[in-house]
Amino acid sequence: MKRWRIQTLFCLLLCVSILPTCWCAQGKYAQKLLNDLFTNYTSALRPVNDTNTILNVTLQITLSQIIDMDERNQILTAYLWIRQVWVDSHVQWNKDDYDGLDTIRIPGSYVWRPDIVLYNK
Ligand SMILES: *[C@@H]1O[C@H](CO)[C@@H](O)[C@H](O)[C@H]1NC(C)=O
Ligand SMILES: *[C@@H]1O[C@H](CO)[C@@H](O)[C@H](O)[C@H]1NC(C)=O
Ligand SMILES: *[C@@H]1O[C@H](CO)[C@@H](O)[C@H](O)[C@H]1NC(C)=O
Repeated sequence: MKRWRIQTLFCLLLCVSILPTCWCAQGKYAQKLLNDLFTNYTSALRPVNDTNTILNVTLQITLSQIIDMDERNQILTAYLWIRQVWVDSHVQWNKDDYDGLDTIRIPGSYVWRPDIVLYNK
């Protein structure tokens, strides 16, 4: 059995919303949408309507670069890209109320994020 130690650089891509179709960012509506979505939002709770509901998180790991492979000590150092996709049922809106705005880009710290860590073993 080999033991690997993996040092990672996480790059979290948050795909919070719908298909990117139009990037015409109407500043005023984006501001209003941001207020409406996050005024009463808490990132501490799992974003499901019913706490018994399962929230599926799709995890995608891409090996970007192998930095070092120490065969004697069996240590692999690499860069990994991690992409996690889930549906946040508190972040949804009707685009007709926001002049057709159907996508916004926000800092990941605004929303709940899955508590997934890579375990070095
Ligand atoms: C936030 O919650 C307060 C109190 O429940 C409510 O009056 C207000 O309309 C909510 N704001 C939004 C943007 O949902
Ligand atoms: C959660 O509740 C909101 C508002 O009550 C509703 O619009 C939405 O469809 C629900 N989401 C799910 C996944 O059931
Ligand atoms: C989560 O994924 C499983 C397996 O693909 C599926 O059966 C289930 O309906 C999904 N649950 C939700 C809430 O999307």
